[in-house]
Parts: sequence; C-alpha cells; structure tokens
Amino acid sequence: MRPSQPRVSVCFVCLGNICRSPTAEGVFRRLLADAGLEARVAVDSAGTGAWHAGERADKRARAEAARRGIELESIARAVVPEDFARFDLLVAMDQSNRDALVAMAGADTKATVALLRSFDPLSPADAEVPDPYYGGEDGFRRVFDICEAGARGLLAHLRREYAL
Ligand code: 4NP
Repeated sequence: MRPSQPRVSVCFVCLGNICRSPTAEGVFRRLLADAGLEARVAVDSAGTGAWHAGERADKRARAEAARRGIELESIARAVVPEDFARFDLLVAMDQSNRDALVAMAGADTKATVALLRSFDPLSPADAEVPDPYYGGEDGFRRVFDICEAGARGLLAHLRREYAL
C-alpha cells in the first residue's frame, strides 16, 4: 500500500456478534482478498449486545460458511463508543441494530451508519438480514446468501466512493 492511498474501515454490526455480522465479515474479507484489496480496507464486527462477548461465531454460522469455503474467525465483542471515531462505516444487519447505533453516536462520530442490504441493488432500501438465532439451518443458509449479496454491493460502493 502506498501512503497516499486512502484506507477505509468497516465494522459489521448485529445483536449478538455471533451469527450475522461474523458471516458478513467473513464473506467481505473473502471478497477483499479475491480483489487484492485487503490492505486497503480494515474490517471488524461487533454486537449491540454483550451477552456473547468472547465467544466464537455460532457453530451453525461457522458450518454454513465452511460449506462455502470460508472460515469465520471472529471473537464476539460489544460495540464501544470508540467505534464511532475509529470506523468510516458501521454496517448494521437490521433496523433495530441501526437504531441502537444511531442512539449511541456521540459528538465526535466519524462513522456513517448504514444497513447492509441497502448496498444490494436487488433489495428494497430498508431490507434487513433476518435474525437466524432461534431458527434452523435453512435460516443460516439464507443469511449467508443475503450477506454475500450485501457484501458484494458494499465492495462496489467502496470502490466508487474511495476509488479503491
Ligand atoms: P446475531 O444473532 O445478532 O446475528 O449474532 C443473535 C445471537 C444471539 C442472540 C440473538 C441474536 N441472543 O439472543 O442471544
């Protein structure tokens, strides 16, 4: 990376940081690697709740990602106030996560808060990534597909906005 090239930072956010945001993070890391852009984009994920802090991603999310050739390596953590100054983009999985982030934002906020699916040109603007936690494996399959479409759209957005 040349010093003149801008670096962008993105944090994916859901409720528990064990199902949806780790999946979005894992898919997005893969897309960045495939595009040779890992050095240009910093990626993380977090949860608006702290119940699962310190845990690996849900084993159902890890199993679905593994079926697609992706290893989810995240360790869950809660969103902290510093995230609003540290990241350019906080990408929420649903409207409740988004509202929680907007309510947490302080005066020195740098981050733009957006919904993941708002970057997917085939989704309605307010579409959500459904919470799969209390459902079956089919929900995790669907979450993966939705996250992949959103992550592709997000990468296209970053390419345009930051000339990556
Ligand atoms: P996530 O899913 O927000 O996609 O990580 C959930 C994980 C845990 C809980 C709810 C949703 N929970 O209630 O513990």
